[in-house]
Amino acid sequence: MTERLRVHVDPDKCQGHARCKALAPELFELDEYGNAHEAGDGVVPPGLEDKAWLAKSNCPEIAIDVIEE
Ligand code: F3S
Repeated sequence: MTERLRVHVDPDKCQGHARCKALAPELFELDEYGNAHEAGDGVVPPGLEDKAWLAKSNCPEIAIDVIEE
């Protein structure tokens, strides 16, 4: 059974670099200040797992968590 992934952005750490949105636009949304939050409930749809990990590893503020459920 494949584990489900969920992404979460820590709003205290996010500084609006927006790399997450560039790399995984399906998984993140930006607010009016350019800070990111997870799209919807953060659940990563099948097939987008690599993008979730890519976004996490490319956030300069280490603001993104990928949770394996
Ligand atoms: Fe914020 Fe990191 Fe994305 S700083 S906008 S979560 S790349």
